[in-house]
Amino acid sequence: MIFYFTGTGNSLYAARQLGDGEPVSIAQELPKPASARHYRDDAIGIVVPLYEFDLPRPVEEFILGSTFDTDYFFVVSSYGMHHGGIAERVAARLEAAGRHVDYYNTVIMLDNAINVFDMDEQRKLDPGKHIDEQLAAVRADIEACRSYIQPANQEERDFYQGYMQHPFDLHPSESDPLYRVTDDCVGCGTCARVCPMGSIRIEDGHPVYNYRTCANCYACIHACPKKAIHYVRYDEPNPEARYRNPHVSLADLVRANCQL
Ligand SMILES: Cc1cc2nc3c(=O)[nH]c(=O)nc-3n(C[C@H](O)[C@H](O)[C@H](O)COP(=O)(O)O)c2cc1C
Ligand code: SF4
Ligand code: SF4
Repeated sequence: MIFYFTGTGNSLYAARQLGDGEPVSIAQELPKPASARHYRDDAIGIVVPLYEFDLPRPVEEFILGSTFDTDYFFVVSSYGMHHGGIAERVAARLEAAGRHVDYYNTVIMLDNAINVFDMDEQRKLDPGKHIDEQLAAVRADIEACRSYIQPANQEERDFYQGYMQHPFDLHPSESDPLYRVTDDCVGCGTCARVCPMGSIRIEDGHPVYNYRTCANCYACIHACPKKAIHYVRYDEPNPEARYRNPHVSLADLVRANCQL
């Protein structure tokens, strides 16, 4: 049994490659009461994007608030540039909170952080990342029930420490929003349908954000067909370039995330 969380499809694609059946969306499970989130299988895995060298907030909430009855619990974080030693750090934190992790690894994929990268340039890096080879290696590990927590090397530790001293200001609030919607918006509602947190409602043909629940996944920004959603606080390197994993359809993302 594999659970996933995704903004732009990388982690859904990875989850599909790591198991045989269709993986289960954390966004669809999380609204259920904790008493209904009791899962049993020989092996249970979590495949999710890395946000600022950590788990997405709703994913940690899902892991700690659910019961997993299994002999083998694994976590795989998809990331785009630097993992910052997430495996060691987060496995230790989950362990301290009572959740034993048998296996934690990372897979480098395309970096969807549009506040930092031009998606068209990112796409050119894809072949060099050997994504399918990485996923095949992780799948072999999981099938062998390998015990392994990816060690953090000094470069990744330094990168993490450096970032934590000067993090991006990515956390929005009602009075200090992160996104703005331009007049190009046609009120199609796609942004609301791909939002895993149900943080967008369409009012008078225009998206309205609830920043109290937003998980910063960027699904809305990337999926808008009019490229009408932009950062307020940062200049995007390429405001015309958006991304969805090439193996994942818009319908897949809506199925994964829609809370409407
Ligand atoms: C808010 C946010 C923060 C991110 N932080 C990092 C980061 O610290 N390091 C990194 O390598 N990639 C980072 N990424 C890139 C994603 O981890 C990566 O593109 C991931 O594969 C996206 O998965 P998804 O398509 O399933 O959402 C970040 C992405 C977002 C949206
Ligand atoms: S997806 Fe884009 S065009 Fe459609 S409602 Fe949202 S902002 Fe407007
Ligand atoms: S509002 Fe946008 S960035 Fe926030 S959780 Fe929803 S889709 Fe993700």
